[in-house]
Amino acid sequence: LSTVNELELPATFDAHVHLRDGEMSQLVTPTIRRGGANQVYVMPNLIPPITTVQQCLEYRDRLRAIESNIDYLMSLYLHESITPETIREAKKAGITGVKSYPAGVTTNSSLGVVDYEIFYPVFEEMEKQNMILNLHGEVPSTPPHAHSSTTSNTLAITILNAEPAFLPTLQTLHTRFPRLRIILEHCSTSAALAAVKACGPTVAGTITAHHLSLIIDDWAGDPFCFCKPVAKTPEDRDALLRAVVDGSGRYFLGTDSAPHDSRKKRGEDKIAAGVFTQPYATGLVLDALEKGIERKVIKKEDVTIEKLEGFLGDWGRKFYGVEDMGGERIVLRRGKEEIVGVLKKEGVGVEVVPFRRGERTWGVTW
Ligand code: NCD
Ligand code: DOR
Ligand code: ZN
Ligand code: ZN
Repeated sequence: LSTVNELELPATFDAHVHLRDGEMSQLVTPTIRRGGANQVYVMPNLIPPITTVQQCLEYRDRLRAIESNIDYLMSLYLHESITPETIREAKKAGITGVKSYPAGVTTNSSLGVVDYEIFYPVFEEMEKQNMILNLHGEVPSTPPHAHSSTTSNTLAITILNAEPAFLPTLQTLHTRFPRLRIILEHCSTSAALAAVKACGPTVAGTITAHHLSLIIDDWAGDPFCFCKPVAKTPEDRDALLRAVVDGSGRYFLGTDSAPHDSRKKRGEDKIAAGVFTQPYATGLVLDALEKGIERKVIKKEDVTIEKLEGFLGDWGRKFYGVEDMGGERIVLRRGKEEIVGVLKKEGVGVEVVPFRRGERTWGVTW
């Protein structure tokens, strides 16, 4: 990788994207192909969240109207109103999976899950119907006023241990539903990677481009590097880099590209969580791997074309059971793309600041 300037690969499968709705979707959906992907798994955390089959299909139609040359795999938002009947209907309609957000942990998750057990009948039906369960694997933080010695028999949860604290739930769900395909989304710790591996082959993990380069210090002062789960320690980041090239096929790319209007990142209110990577997705992964080689975390010879193809497409497609779209291929050229300072569009009233703005990355041609 560090010795080539040009690389031809199958088009990327991005197994975790936020395309939003309305003006924001007009802005970001056309950038998917520019980032090298032609097939994406779309998150349902709109306002209101996508909880019915009809909403989901209508949403897909709106995305197709913006950019028809993408295969959109769709998901529902796990919610009390979803029943086993919803799952059967969703399967028939060609919906791929269901994303579970713990209540209150991230963008638009106030309607999320409090107790996983009440959804067991839904998971059972998903297992039967061979649908995918996508987990946002974090436990909600302990409310600040509850951090006191009188309540601290149990460890207080913060954004730093929220993911490790969730991992027993992954194991519980996998044990209870061994044939249910589960993805632990946006793994951000070595503990999460290990938890995925400890499960059977029906469990996989996605890894974002940005978690391959960020650590805590990066987001501590920079809202454009702040996302959930937050980037953790250098050791965690390095474990993620190694996982990309471990060849197990258990981890694959899901960028979690999460656009927010720049005012939600720089304004006076709470800063929205989410890192926007969509237009540069594939190049950012290559850059992170190269940095990993430079820092001697991974070896040059670890980054084979098979592993790149696997992480960026094959392994995810295999887990999802989807074909690649017509065998489309992309050519990546080192340093040929300058990351814009801000992504805007004529007639669109929102703008997004991308990850690593102003820097250069690999350019994509189709
Ligand atoms: C985008 C761009 O080129 O940065 N639009 C714009 O600045 N008006 C368009 C795109 O990303 O496709
Ligand atoms: O940082 C994040 N942003 N993490 C998520 O899980 C959701 C996402 C969003 O929708 O903005
Ligand atoms: Zn998530
Ligand atoms: Zn997400």
